[in-house]
Amino acid sequence: MCGIVGYIGDRDAQDVVLKGLQRLEYRGYDSSGIAVYGNGTGLQLARAVGKLHHLAEQLATAPLHGQLGVGHTRWATHGAVTETNAHPHRDQSGTIVVVQNGIVENYQELRERLIADGHIFHSQTDTEVIAHLVGVAYARTQSLEQAVQQTISELHGGNAIVVFSINEPDRLIAARLGNAGGVVIGMGIDEVFIASDMPAVLDYTHHLLFLEDGELAVLTRNAVQIRNRAGALIKREPTTIAWDAERAARGDFPHYMLKEIHEQPQTLLDVLRGRVDGAAGTITLDELTLDTATLQHIDRIYTVACGTAWHAALLAKFMIERLARVRVDVDYGSEFRYRQPILDQRTLVLTITQSGETVDTLAAMEEARTHGIPSVAIVNVIGSQAARLADGGAIYLHAGPEIGVASTKCFTSMLVAAYLLGLKLGQVRGVLSADAVREHGQALSALPHQAAQVLAQTDAPIRALAARYHAATSMLYLGRNVSYPIALEGALKLKEISYIHAEGYPAGEMKHGPVALIDEHLPVVCIAPHDGVYEKMLSNIEQVHARNGKVIAIVSEGDTQVAAEPDHIISVPRTSDLLSPVLTVIPLQLLSYHMAVLRGCDVDQPRNLAKSVTVE
Ligand code: G6P
Repeated sequence: MCGIVGYIGDRDAQDVVLKGLQRLEYRGYDSSGIAVYGNGTGLQLARAVGKLHHLAEQLATAPLHGQLGVGHTRWATHGAVTETNAHPHRDQSGTIVVVQNGIVENYQELRERLIADGHIFHSQTDTEVIAHLVGVAYARTQSLEQAVQQTISELHGGNAIVVFSINEPDRLIAARLGNAGGVVIGMGIDEVFIASDMPAVLDYTHHLLFLEDGELAVLTRNAVQIRNRAGALIKREPTTIAWDAERAARGDFPHYMLKEIHEQPQTLLDVLRGRVDGAAGTITLDELTLDTATLQHIDRIYTVACGTAWHAALLAKFMIERLARVRVDVDYGSEFRYRQPILDQRTLVLTITQSGETVDTLAAMEEARTHGIPSVAIVNVIGSQAARLADGGAIYLHAGPEIGVASTKCFTSMLVAAYLLGLKLGQVRGVLSADAVREHGQALSALPHQAAQVLAQTDAPIRALAARYHAATSMLYLGRNVSYPIALEGALKLKEISYIHAEGYPAGEMKHGPVALIDEHLPVVCIAPHDGVYEKMLSNIEQVHARNGKVIAIVSEGDTQVAAEPDHIISVPRTSDLLSPVLTVIPLQLLSYHMAVLRGCDVDQPRNLAKSVTVE
């Protein structure tokens, strides 16, 4: 949730840290802070409440000078959003600086012990406890590395921390405990970077090291030493990541979200690249490490995810059941491990996650591991924790960095990745012939071009709809079959960024409750592509009309039967029944975007939300 950046080298640490924080601001934006140390300038700190530009403005008038620095953007967990609660925090002596992403679950008990020993706290945060503990251990050991090692052995919960001390100004110490947040180390020449996520370092280097659970790293400008919980040295070569900083930049778009919506023709191409062999009628998913016998033996798949990815998981059920005839159950990451799911040797856990860091999703993978069940991840962020935990393989989206907090391009790529997995399973299990796979492959290959058509055709009419309805206080989204998860996703997108109450419902269920809400003020988005449930959907639309609801219909090109006002009909190209969600969701993404902009909302950083949710 929070974002951490650190640097040692010859550059101005303030510039590197601030730029890195700007790249990570999607992770938290309640408050931010920075600490820089320089020979001759000593330790300097700056903190500010609110979005990062407040800190940047402060630094513009009172810059910090030095070549060692750490910074932090906060998503508050312990303690209100105040300047004193903003990171970095210091120990009692004021010489040790700490930033944290995650939660120290036993912080209360540790804090009371420290207070009894005479420590004075300036904030309500759990992070300040870490700083004090490191300070106590440093007084004993006179080694920052050992002090951090001893401190983390006392902490409960999951977190990532970065520490420096003015007494050892040649190094940063970083540690990762549990799955509460990534730690990426960027290896430069005579300089080193550290961050919670790759976009913060890609401007400088593509050679990255990732910390695993329980590892501690000592970073100096030309070496990184990693040790595990037992203190043993870990040898790990940096991975070269192809993502470029350009793709993490906003370009000419006013918001990342709009840029990412418009990237979809390209990201759909990227998720398909090299995976469908049209001539042979085969699917190649090289990353899948499960052998054919295991894939044939599976009789139940749990798809587990959170947020928008959970909607992709719902659609994965439709796809995999239809294409491979395997039973699929769908769970929220936050529920899965608490309900004692039946996990036996014929079970597969399939997680879907953009960041690969969502703590509840990772917990499901741990649950699978505990039961000796393989897990496969559909994931965007290369080298993320989900990718590493997926012992059955990580199917990458290759969508590039997604910065907008509301997920868009990764959602459509998740659908395609799940579809490819369904095809692969269908093929190895003898459900799908090469001809069938070829046909599905053709439909998939048409999607990038069709997505471009949707964007070109629907942006203007959607803007007009947004202008008409942006003052609405509530909206209903209805769909049947595969359009039902799209109704959920359309409603979620609207809620997230425009703060309009919205509900997604299976259209057939409307008469069991939501129908009571319908009157002439309620805009009702009806997703009605020309598929097997089209006629049923027509009846539902009539029912909305009969109660004077305002129907906004998403239909297939050439539709003549859906009754909505002419300017309330949005057409998307025809595709197969199962693939229609990839196209019908795009106008809904645009609708929520334009509504939010007209309402003056902060589209890329909606209130209270964060891009990567690394706390339970
Ligand atoms: C947060 C984000 C959502 C995202 C969800 C799951 O709530 O705001 O956009 O869908 O986390 O994230 P993941 O990285 O696991 O896909």
